[in-house]
Amino acid sequence: MLDHGAPPATDPSPAKTPGLGTRLMRRKPVERLVAEGGQGEGGMLRRSLSMWQLTMISIGATLGTGIFVVLGDATPLAGPAVAISFVIAGLTALFSALSYAELAGSIPVSGSSYSYSYATMGEIVAWICGWCLILEYGVSVAAVAVGWGEYLNELLDGTLGTTIPESVSAPLGEGGFINLPALVVILLAMVFLMRGAKESARVNTIMVVVKIVTLVIFCAIGFMGIKAGNYTPLAPLGVTGISAAAATLFFSYIGFDAASTAGEEATNPKRDLPRAIMLSLLIVTALYCLVALVAVGAMPWQDFEGTEAALAQIMKDVTGHSFWSVVLAAGAVVAIASVVFAVLYGQTRILFAMARDGLVPKVFAKVDARTGSPRANTVIVSLFCGVLAATIPLGELANATSIGTLFAFGLVNVAVVILRYTRPDMSRTFRVALFPATPILGLLFCLYMMFSLPGVTWAVFGGWMIVGVMFYFGYGLRRSRLATAEK
Ligand code: ALA
Repeated sequence: MLDHGAPPATDPSPAKTPGLGTRLMRRKPVERLVAEGGQGEGGMLRRSLSMWQLTMISIGATLGTGIFVVLGDATPLAGPAVAISFVIAGLTALFSALSYAELAGSIPVSGSSYSYSYATMGEIVAWICGWCLILEYGVSVAAVAVGWGEYLNELLDGTLGTTIPESVSAPLGEGGFINLPALVVILLAMVFLMRGAKESARVNTIMVVVKIVTLVIFCAIGFMGIKAGNYTPLAPLGVTGISAAAATLFFSYIGFDAASTAGEEATNPKRDLPRAIMLSLLIVTALYCLVALVAVGAMPWQDFEGTEAALAQIMKDVTGHSFWSVVLAAGAVVAIASVVFAVLYGQTRILFAMARDGLVPKVFAKVDARTGSPRANTVIVSLFCGVLAATIPLGELANATSIGTLFAFGLVNVAVVILRYTRPDMSRTFRVALFPATPILGLLFCLYMMFSLPGVTWAVFGGWMIVGVMFYFGYGLRRSRLATAEK
C-alpha cells in the first residue's frame, strides 16, 4: 500500500521501488524469454543439436542408476509387480512429459521449468523451481557419481579380481576419507563438456547406444532364464508395496526433461524439443518394463533383497559364466557415466538461464568465444558436484532429489494451464491432449508420488527450501534483471 502513496514533496523524482509482493510475483514475458535465447555474457551459445541428439541427451540423463541399481531396492517392496510400479512411475512422468513438451515447444530456452515458472507464476516461484532443479540435477549428479563408483568396483572385481580400497572410495563418515571414483567421473564429464555442445552430444550418443545395447543383451539372456512360477503371487505386498516401489522407482525417470535444458543449442527447438522429450520417455519406459519383467521372471523376487548388482547376478545365474555379468557391469559403468554427463550438462544450462536473469552470479552466463559454451560455469558446477560427491555422505539429500523433481514437474503442469488461459494466442508446436484433464492429472500424480515418500525426505526437502528462500532474499531479489529494469 505504501508504494501507492504520493512521493514526498522534498524529493520530486525518487526511483519508485515496487512493493515486496509485486517484486516477488514479477513475471518475465514469454517474448523476452525467447528473444534472449542463446545470449550469454560476452557471447552466444552455439546452435548445433538435432532432434536425434536432443533425444539422446534425455535418454542419457535418464537411463542409469535407476534400472541398474534402484530396481534391486524396489523389487523387495513390490514383488514381481515391480513392473507395474514402473508403469505407475512412468505414467507420472508421462503426464508431466506432455506438459514439458508443450512448454518446451513454445518457450524453447535453457532454463526448462525454471523459465516456464518465471513466465507464468512469477519470480519467487521460478526461483523455488530453479532451486528444486539444483536438487534434480546438481545433487542427483553427485549421488549418481557415487553409484558409478560402486559399479566400477563390481567391474574391477569381475575382471581384475580387485577393488578400489574403501579409504579412497567412500567419504568420511562412511568408512573412508574421500570418494575418488565419484570425483573422477565428474571431472571426466567436465573435460568433455568443456569442448562444447556438439562434441558433448557426440560422446553422449555413443554412451547411450552402449547402454541400450547392454540392456537389450540383458533381456535376451534373461529371457532364457524366466520361470513362470516366479511371477506368482504377483503382488505379495499389495497395493501399498506397489506404490512404495513406484515412488522409489520414480528416480529412474528423472532426466527425461533434460532436452528442455538444451533449447538454446538446438537447431530447430520449437519442432524438435517436444519430439525429443516424448520419444525419449517412450524408449526408456519400454526398456524399463521389459527389463523389470525379465528380471523378476528370471530371479525370485525375495532374492533381490541384499543383492548389490541384481542384473549382473541374473546374467551369471542364467548363463553360468561370469563373462556376461562383467559385460553387464561394463555397460552399467558406461550407462551411469552418461547420466553424470547429461545431467551435469543440464545443470550448467539451468544456471546459465538463472544467471542471465541475475538470480545467481553472472559468471554462470559467461560464454566462451571459441566453443560457444559456458566453460566457466561448467568448471564451477563440476567442481562443486565433484567435491560434494567425494566428501559428503549424501544419504537423505539424494532421496530428496525425487521430491524436488516432483515439485518442479508439478509446477510445469500448473504452468501449462496458466499459459493456455493467459496466452491462448501463443504459437504452440505441441499441444497437450485432453486439456485441462492431462496437466491436472499430471499434477495429481506428482502430489501422490510426493506423499508416498517418507517423512524424513520431506524434512530434508523443507530444510533445502528454507536455505533456498534465504539465498533469494539475500541475493536474487535485489539483483534480478527484472528489478533493474523496473528502476
Ligand atoms: N534417472 C537417472 C538414473 O536413473 C537419475 O540414474
